[in-house]
Amino acid sequence: MTATSERLLDAPLSALGAHLHPAIIAIDGPAASGKSTVGYRLANALGYLYFDTGVMYRAVTWAALTRGIAITDEQAVGELAHSIAIDLLPPQPGQQDGRHATVLVDGEDVTWLLRAPEVERNVSAVSAYAAVRAALTAKQRAIAHRYGRGNAERAGIVLVGRDIGTVVVPDAPLKLYIDATPEERARRRHRELRQQGKTIDYDQVLADMLRRDHIDSERTLAPLRQAPDAVRLDNSDQSADVTLTQALDALRAKIAQST
Ligand code: DC
Repeated sequence: MTATSERLLDAPLSALGAHLHPAIIAIDGPAASGKSTVGYRLANALGYLYFDTGVMYRAVTWAALTRGIAITDEQAVGELAHSIAIDLLPPQPGQQDGRHATVLVDGEDVTWLLRAPEVERNVSAVSAYAAVRAALTAKQRAIAHRYGRGNAERAGIVLVGRDIGTVVVPDAPLKLYIDATPEERARRRHRELRQQGKTIDYDQVLADMLRRDHIDSERTLAPLRQAPDAVRLDNSDQSADVTLTQALDALRAKIAQST
């Protein structure tokens, strides 16, 4: 072991984040794989901004639905993606309702509206449109590079999505691909829905999960794929704590390699 890697093993986590250049961590994976949990905890541990890019696709879907734009009208939905302002803010004091970030669309707080079943049902179709992807990828890349180069109020950024390591920031020095079996992911989603008081069959949740996996990974544009240089973490049979430890180990190994 070199002196640098020995020092990294003992370094406080916030100091560790200062060693990554650019300070960008890309996390991809299928729905309910636990990527948001590990991404959020990793960002907090390092003092980085947490950026869940899925909310942008949800924001465009929500805006189309509330403005009466047909989801099948690709051109109109694409124009909407270019014209609306989507802002993300860290939760403010008093907003202790479980949110990881506040999402504003043209100034309106839509954080929880983005989780509505109607948005859930239509977001895969919206995220397959070329014009939507072009608009949102450009916004995500600009944010990633601003934070990654140290020109923002946080030391770096963790982006979570489906195409972060392959398309949005292929230059990210650390890429993680978080996975779990479809059955385990459906169990987690089913538990979440029941906790929210919703009565729904496990088999229905599993069928919806497989349908979404299929759309997300088979679409022509930016399909869900593990980047060749991503570290794959399967958390089907392990806790979020163990996955976080593995993610931090991958970060230490990456920094030790480049110093
Ligand atoms: O992670 P999520 O469930 O909030 O994502 C919502 C939808 O957006 C999902 O169908 C996948 C899509 N998405 C995408 O295509 N690219 C991303 N970078 C993030 C999400």
